Amino acid sequence: MNSNAGFSLNQVTYRAGSRMILQETSLRLNPGEITAVIGPSGSGKSTLLKLLATVWNPSSGTVYFQGQDLKDSRADYRMKLGYAPQDDVIHRDLTVEDSFRFAAELRLPEWVTPEVAQQRMDAVIEGLGLGERRRHRISKLSGGQRKRVNVGVELLADPEALLMDEAASGLDPATEGDLMKILAEIAEQGKTVVLTTHSMEYLDQVQKIVLLAQGLLIFAGSLAELLVHFNIPHIAEVFKKIREREVGYWHTRYISSALATRQSPYSS
Ligand SMILES: Nc1ncnc2c1ncn2[C@@H]1O[C@H](COP(=O)(O)OP(=O)(O)O)[C@@H](O)[C@H]1O
Ligand SMILES: [Mg+2]
Repeated sequence: MNSNAGFSLNQVTYRAGSRMILQETSLRLNPGEITAVIGPSGSGKSTLLKLLATVWNPSSGTVYFQGQDLKDSRADYRMKLGYAPQDDVIHRDLTVEDSFRFAAELRLPEWVTPEVAQQRMDAVIEGLGLGERRRHRISKLSGGQRKRVNVGVELLADPEALLMDEAASGLDPATEGDLMKILAEIAEQGKTVVLTTHSMEYLDQVQKIVLLAQGLLIFAGSLAELLVHFNIPHIAEVFKKIREREVGYWHTRYISSALATRQSPYSS
């Protein structure tokens, strides 16, 4: 349908019962880039990530990855996906090393030998700066270290797409900066990285910002474009700015802008 190698959402909605959680959304999330999904609490950020992760299916519309409709390619797609949900899924009683071993058993294809699996684990553990913590229990780690374990287990299978919900939660600014560097390296390898965050600190280091409010897409574009679109001097003012008007106003303003045309699955 299109040659875009990352994600492409075509008029995706998500309803829970009669409640509209995510209204018709069209977006492109490119490989080689970090996309940050931001928005007030309850705006639909985690929902969007769950749709990308195939945890949930859209109520209408289509999500594509590498040009394939996810509903037709789920099993294949999940092999290419790393998804770190908002809440930790790793057991706190396990050591760092055991968490990785457990994840490797679940995720690595059967043909991967134990030696290769061990090399892969070592590479990820060292790459994330967790070497000195290998034998520590997860419960003894700082928030930042735990976040790195969460991402690390997702990196074992060298995913094409990495989704991370609430990337900054529990992290101090310095640790968040370290994590952003790791994510930038992953994106530079041509992977599609999508995170949600409450933090405005490092948005100058992402290639695309997606802004949701009350389940409506109200902006997608670069940080520079965001400042122009909302006519604000600094990203920190964006939530104050959007409260000045109805969400519907911002949605219409975005949809009728050239920014929205660029996110269309059909634009080149
Ligand atoms: N399964 C569900 N059933 C009903 N409401 C839900 C369900 N999942 C999420 N919601 C609601 O959808 C809205 C968006 O949730 P969420 O995507 O978690 O927002 P965010 O991650 O931006 O805080 C919230 O109001 C939440 O309460
Ligand atoms: Mg959330």
